[in-house]
Amino acid sequence: MCQVLECIDAGTEYCPCYLAETGECIMCSQLQGRTFCDCTNWKGVCIYQEYVNNRKRIKEQRKSFVSRLIEKQFLSENVMLLKFKTNSTLARELNQPGAYVFLRSTEEPAFFDTPMSVMTTDERTGTVTAAVQIRGVKTKALKKIKEELLVRGPYWNGLLGLKYIKGLRNSRALLVTRGIGQAPALPVARKLVAAGNEVEVVLDKGRGGVNFAEQHFRELGCEVVHRSVLQPGTLDVPEETLEYIKKKVLEEGVRLVYTGGSEKLHQGVGRLLASMGAGTFFACSNDARVCCGEGICGSCHTRLADGSRIKTCKTQLGPVDIYGGR
Ligand code: FES
Repeated sequence: MCQVLECIDAGTEYCPCYLAETGECIMCSQLQGRTFCDCTNWKGVCIYQEYVNNRKRIKEQRKSFVSRLIEKQFLSENVMLLKFKTNSTLARELNQPGAYVFLRSTEEPAFFDTPMSVMTTDERTGTVTAAVQIRGVKTKALKKIKEELLVRGPYWNGLLGLKYIKGLRNSRALLVTRGIGQAPALPVARKLVAAGNEVEVVLDKGRGGVNFAEQHFRELGCEVVHRSVLQPGTLDVPEETLEYIKKKVLEEGVRLVYTGGSEKLHQGVGRLLASMGAGTFFACSNDARVCCGEGICGSCHTRLADGSRIKTCKTQLGPVDIYGGR
């Protein structure tokens, strides 16, 4: 079956990618093996034409480069901030909601590449800061970084429902975040505030045990409240928190709810929004198990309600398609 979805990389300097060569392009029906154009999500560039004009070869893809570590700061026993040097262009490309990079110690092989959301960037100095929660083999290896690290990027599909975040203007938004989910929520808040929205952030320090982004949210002018957003044990969203979100939507005119945390959080809030039927926009962090980030390895595959399988590292969806809600 021909499936035409939206690819986050379509129309960028990295398109067409490996998927065009293998007949697996996410957007182009002709590069999926069809004989006609079925382009419904045109991004201003014809992927097929780009591929043909490039002598039926893919564009040069992202490569790892050695970056200088500027600062490593432990915020708690298992959360650290890494600030590293890139260049102004990459810092600018990463200065948006959903941006992430792959990080790796220079001592480790390529399969230690770890996707990490970008928290802040400084285009002037070309520096990027990411928050890392140390949990498994790869993140423990990042802890060992001393002076240099390997960086690969930019990648942009760290969020689902990006168009709602980019499209909301002069309205109200509620961000519900937990633990390390605070880091990717910060660029979301920045984007929403820049578009004239009032932003409230519900913070739960989660396993990391620290609200490391609180000060940044406050500096942006966001209102910050502290609440538990997942019950220990069941990992369900507490009733009181659901009631709080409901009140914000129905009585205070919140038009967009963003959740940054685990799938259980997205599911709980998605179901609530669907049950209210208030037409609230819903966006969330992309919690797929991203390994290659290029649509090749298949580790990020998920199944939609219609049974089709998609690669969430590249495919831009609304969270509703996966978690329910609007
Ligand atoms: S992370 Fe490898 S296909 Fe998506």
